[in-house]
Amino acid sequence: MPEAPVFAADAAGIARAAEILRGGGLVAFPTETVYGLGADATDAQAVAHLFEVKGRPSFNPLIAHVADIAAARRVARFDATAERLADAFWPGPLTLVLAAREGAVAPLARAGLPTVGVRVPEHPAAQRLLEAVGRPVAAPSANPSGRVSPTTAAHVRSTLGGRIDAILDAGPCAVGVESTIVGLVGRPSLLRPGGLPLEAVEACLGGPLAAAAQGIDAPGQLRSHYAPSVPVRLGAATARQGETFLGFGPIDGDINLSPSGDLVEAAARLFAALHELDATGAVGIAVAPIPDRGLGRAINDRLRRAAAPRD
Ligand code: TXA
Ligand code: MG
Repeated sequence: MPEAPVFAADAAGIARAAEILRGGGLVAFPTETVYGLGADATDAQAVAHLFEVKGRPSFNPLIAHVADIAAARRVARFDATAERLADAFWPGPLTLVLAAREGAVAPLARAGLPTVGVRVPEHPAAQRLLEAVGRPVAAPSANPSGRVSPTTAAHVRSTLGGRIDAILDAGPCAVGVESTIVGLVGRPSLLRPGGLPLEAVEACLGGPLAAAAQGIDAPGQLRSHYAPSVPVRLGAATARQGETFLGFGPIDGDINLSPSGDLVEAAARLFAALHELDATGAVGIAVAPIPDRGLGRAINDRLRRAAAPRD
């Protein structure tokens, strides 16, 4: 397959991208969190192709992306809690896992589960694309399975450029880590920390979320997800010989995620920094401690996966 064309996120680019998606093709597109690799969620063939291109070890369920809450209600059953969270945080970096409506997305997109993850992204290019497609778009992060999520079109191009149909480029993603996933089948629970702070979700619900159940509720949460090609060492005060160093706040490094200690800025830079340090040829990446609050939770979650033993 030739290198995927890169379209600017203008009216013409979005129209071409939508046409490819409606025809069963694969298009990487920007969201406020990370770049997603989209396929028409109603087209089982397109979704199967997407799994193949990602090289996912199993059929993990995919998030259905839609333009607005009305479209989300056609994909999933909303109860009062879901309405409340959607009203407070959509469009935005929140995914809700709800009971699926039969027939709304291909069963393969849900990995055969009776539930579905649904999200309304805030990025204007994603919004316009979803409106133009007029169908739910299944989109995992646009990286090969097990690798760091892409926050620029160049990241997508360097890993998947030869295997997909187009890339819609709108510059770097503002949030930089994936959406927060809240499960609302049974007790509200945190399935994945992400770009919306847990504290904001809990304030909206007026109580704590349950911890994620292990197993089928948190598929795709492989330990060694988000992995650079070299070992990652966390909570480091300094680099050891041959290592490159990712700093935070006053602990400076080859790259500093945020010299001022701002966790929002650090999240936005995280994956690009890992990509960059991975490309230096260092024998490992050491990472300074990151406070475990707000977006720091999502950052530490991704870093623990990057540091986990490779299976
Ligand atoms: O920010 C994001 O969420 C990005 C952008 C592109 O929207 N997408 C993303 O997708 O991170 P992905 O496929 O890389 O991660 C989705 C996670 C997976 O861990 C998957 O197992 C979980 O969501 N998930 C999806 N549907 C689910 C369901 N029905 N039940 C439980 N977990 C689900
Ligand atoms: Mg992913």
